[in-house]
Amino acid sequence: MAIDSFEGKVAFVTGGASGIGLGIATVLVGRGAKVVLADLRHDHIEHALRTFGGRSNAVSALQLDVSDRAAYREAAARMQAEFGGIDILVNNAGVGLEGPILEATYADYDFGMGVNFGGVVNGFVEFVPQMRAHGRGGHIVSTASLAAEVVMPEHLAIYAASKAAVCHYCEAVKARLGEEGIGVSILLPGPVKSNIHETQSNRPAHWLEGSGYKASEAKLSRRIVGDNWMEPKAVGELVADGILANRTYIVTHGFYKDAMRARAEAVLAATPDTQEAAPDFGRFRDE
Ligand SMILES: NC(=O)c1ccc[n+]([C@@H]2O[C@H](COP(=O)([O-])OP(=O)(O)OC[C@H]3O[C@@H](n4cnc5c(N)ncnc54)[C@H](O)[C@@H]3O)[C@@H](O)[C@H]2O)c1
Repeated sequence: MAIDSFEGKVAFVTGGASGIGLGIATVLVGRGAKVVLADLRHDHIEHALRTFGGRSNAVSALQLDVSDRAAYREAAARMQAEFGGIDILVNNAGVGLEGPILEATYADYDFGMGVNFGGVVNGFVEFVPQMRAHGRGGHIVSTASLAAEVVMPEHLAIYAASKAAVCHYCEAVKARLGEEGIGVSILLPGPVKSNIHETQSNRPAHWLEGSGYKASEAKLSRRIVGDNWMEPKAVGELVADGILANRTYIVTHGFYKDAMRARAEAVLAATPDTQEAAPDFGRFRDE
């Protein structure tokens, strides 16, 4: 069952207490959903709950690190107990880590992949069984980035890789989950007003230890948010419409179109013009 209205639906929005996640949560509440903000940061949660003011009966929040599988499992169990399971998962929590690639350590790789891709994986692993079991169908939106669709500069290599993983995973599972009545969308944002520059404050201690990105993330924390960057609520409207249409890609900006095309064309240019049939990977011994 595709999502055809948000009225009375329960949405779990990770990283929902700031920036894009808060924009999506605000629009979903405005369109009649009950929203649970799942966020790492208590300060963001307190601020976000205040912004909902009078409509706060439709909004609740819980503290969650999406890379913590045990905690994520507990959160999913709570959603089952409180709401009979969720209808919409927004896998949006992410960190904008960046730094000189030659100084990156395992802490930086694990942090980037663990939150940006691992958090999405954990969302699917915990909530797909819940959506299948309650039989109401559902929808899963995962926030990647336009950084996943173009060749990025080296200081964003880990970030781009983590977001490309989100894209390819979601593309690959969409048809199968569709058979279960679960829609899948990928949000590909360009620049949006948010607190993404606060990466350093979102690093758990075990991924700060030994990081080669300390200096670059300290600099990033002083970055100024552009006046012409998109408003999070505008992204929220695109996402809500994308869910209703079960759109695979929800793209906020067009300025990378040539770079996207150039990357796709470079891969095609390197591809031989062979005429043979595609290999059959579905044959097995003893069958
Ligand atoms: N803002 C942009 O320009 C932009 C562009 C492309 C993609 N994105 C992506 O959008 C998503 C949202 O980012 P944003 O720009 O709104 O930034 P943001 O920092 O304002 O919001 C992200 C929220 O996620 C939370 N968070 C961070 N790590 C977490 C964790 N481990 N577990 C749970 N919550 C966690 C933060 O506390 C914060 O409230 C991210 O995935 C980001 O990579 C943002």
